[in-house]
Amino acid sequence: MKDEISRELARARVYEAEHEALVPAADRPVFHFSPRVGWLNDPNGLSYCDGLYHLFYQYHPYSTQWGPMHWGHAVSRDLISWRYLPAALAPDHAYDQSGCFSGSACVTDDGRHLLIYTGCGDSSGDPTGKGRWLQTQNIAVRKPGEEEYVKYEGNPVITADDLPEGGDSYEFRDPYLWRTEDGSYRCLVANGRTSDELGTQLTVYASPDGLHWGGGKVLFEDKRKIGVMWECPNFFPLGGRYVLLASPMDMQAEEEEAVGSIRFPKGNNVCYIRGDYDTETEDFIPDADEDGKCIYAPVDRGLDFYAPQVMETPDGRQVMVGWMQDPKTAAQCNKTGQRIFGQMTVPRELSLRDGVLYQWPVRELEAYRQEPVRHSCTLGDGWERITGISGRSTDLLIRIRAQENCKKVVIRLAADSENGTEIRFHPHLCTLMIDRSDSGQEADMTATRTIRVRDCGREIDLRILVDKWSAEVFINGGEQVMSATFYTDPAAQDIAFRSEGSALIDITKYMITDRQGR
Ligand code: FRU
Repeated sequence: MKDEISRELARARVYEAEHEALVPAADRPVFHFSPRVGWLNDPNGLSYCDGLYHLFYQYHPYSTQWGPMHWGHAVSRDLISWRYLPAALAPDHAYDQSGCFSGSACVTDDGRHLLIYTGCGDSSGDPTGKGRWLQTQNIAVRKPGEEEYVKYEGNPVITADDLPEGGDSYEFRDPYLWRTEDGSYRCLVANGRTSDELGTQLTVYASPDGLHWGGGKVLFEDKRKIGVMWECPNFFPLGGRYVLLASPMDMQAEEEEAVGSIRFPKGNNVCYIRGDYDTETEDFIPDADEDGKCIYAPVDRGLDFYAPQVMETPDGRQVMVGWMQDPKTAAQCNKTGQRIFGQMTVPRELSLRDGVLYQWPVRELEAYRQEPVRHSCTLGDGWERITGISGRSTDLLIRIRAQENCKKVVIRLAADSENGTEIRFHPHLCTLMIDRSDSGQEADMTATRTIRVRDCGREIDLRILVDKWSAEVFINGGEQVMSATFYTDPAAQDIAFRSEGSALIDITKYMITDRQGR
């Protein structure tokens, strides 16, 4: 027998089923996940259940603008090719009437798929008068063999009553779930404080069964006030250490020692902190500098990356998916009349090497590579176009060896005679820049980002995933990553190379085939 679903969920499902066909296939990225219709932000509930990967997402089906949040849903066998399922959650209870915010998922011992998410309720009690919504944590469960995620009758399961002292119940969200060795459950929840003097705290709750929660132990406190509120925390083991990875909002810009380079731009960013975790006491001891301050570092250095979520795959990899679309780019999408907004990064395998978080596209992507083209040459002042090296759905492996006299190497992607997105390597400065100033946008937006790269003796290795509306640039084996979206006409397919002074370049290019829905 089918479970009853609410009017709100039924309406969203009718809407998405009717409107999906109106999204022109040409508007969709080829191998990056995009919403079925409407608006997408954070990845949610990334998990493996019943032999499939599940990706849920913050979803407003009715428009390309953020609105009352639903959870969209898709499944995949290989993390690359996704099949849409009907929306899983809609705001349909008093405790989530204003939106089903971000959360995560796990599988119970008896095979139930358990979702935990933030419900946004009523705003009338906000003591600041800012109309913020009361936030609580809630559960929805799908039983094996059934289709619906049924909201637990005991919701909300974590409320203001469970907050540590000074916790703000109107900034209390994005639970990140995991199972412990003894099979019990933990979740880490982001929590602002009622006093501006205090930074965000990330609080762990414990449960024997995933339904009944208690505790409220502070795992980490942002004493340095890096950002206003640390959204979407993740906490996971990696390479013998533990990593805390979260998205602090409204950071101040932080410069880096390189010409024009910044470590964190002003605004919302993603950072990670390494440390040790004592599984007995459940204390996290972050790595600290000489002054005892925790060491935090950026995750993706590009223009479009926020609120990533990390899951452990059945074969033990930690895989991260991020929201790859700065909301400031929404004006562009609305101007061009698109019916979808937002896309995810390609899922990335994480590793910790010499204390650095490396990211690399999941190996499953390699099965989608077609028609390899290899070319080596010496670049000079004129633009070099190479037969077979072009396209808007490509996996490019590039090694650059700049000569003594080389000032700059430029790779121009998704280009035609007018537009193009450029990646510029300055070997003598050890910087890499991404520049989308001429990438088809009609609305004003941040167009460049420069980062300092490791000094590899004038050499650099790049892997660039180019899709219809984006480039993800993996630097020196994934030691750094820069992701950026762009809006150039999809007919702009050129890839060209140039250098000031001479540089040797080895290129392997694959086409990535569209096998969505497999
Ligand atoms: C991060 C975020 C989360 C929240 C969700 C709402 O982008 O603000 O903190 O749960 O988006 O859509």
